[in-house]
Amino acid sequence: MFIELAHSYWKQLLGPEDCAIDATCGNGFDTYFLLSLGLKKILALDIQSQAIEATKKRLDEHFSKEIASKVSYFQMSHENFPEESYQIPIKLIIYNLGYLPGSDKKIKTLHSSTIESIKKALALLIEGGMVSIMCYPGHSEGYDEEIAVVEFAKSLPPNQYEICYHTQLNKPKSPRLLIINKSSSFQKRS
Ligand SMILES: C[S@@+](CC[C@H](N)C(=O)[O-])C[C@H]1O[C@@H](n2cnc3c(N)ncnc32)[C@H](O)[C@@H]1O
Repeated sequence: MFIELAHSYWKQLLGPEDCAIDATCGNGFDTYFLLSLGLKKILALDIQSQAIEATKKRLDEHFSKEIASKVSYFQMSHENFPEESYQIPIKLIIYNLGYLPGSDKKIKTLHSSTIESIKKALALLIEGGMVSIMCYPGHSEGYDEEIAVVEFAKSLPPNQYEICYHTQLNKPKSPRLLIINKSSSFQKRS
């Protein structure tokens, strides 16, 4: 349910001149959606080669060579962003936390490196940009990670960031969506 909601946030934000980072590309479903929005450039990161290959395969199969070439792949931890991230204006950075469905569940996002990454993501974003984080509190690390991410988000200065947190109140283990907007208009008003 929140995947569609996340997609609608991204769609509203982005235009054809914009660039985005998928910080956990996994099986490539989210990168696929971003590319279908007609962006200028997408950087797709994942710590696992299996995920990079799955994402590349999906995009190469569904898009022309020219469109698919808008995506650059980086097998690395998102604790750091590739050099190229600092050379282009990044409008959106997305995280779909947890493990790669259908693979080794031991390889999953961890709260300390996730927070480190989100801090860098916020610094990297252009004004008016967005970080989108899908959390999965239904498994143990996912539970701790969601708490850490929410606590971090609460600590952000309200005159610089607009934050929206979506949760299903009657389903405590269901996925949650956190949206952090780096807002330039707020700074001007205060
Ligand atoms: C839930 S999956 C992502 C699903 C993906 N967005 C999709 O549309 O298919 C989470 C991914 O995070 C990756 N991951 C775990 N730790 C990471 C890290 N430190 N840096 C980058 N990726 C990481 C995993 O390898 C896994 O592929």
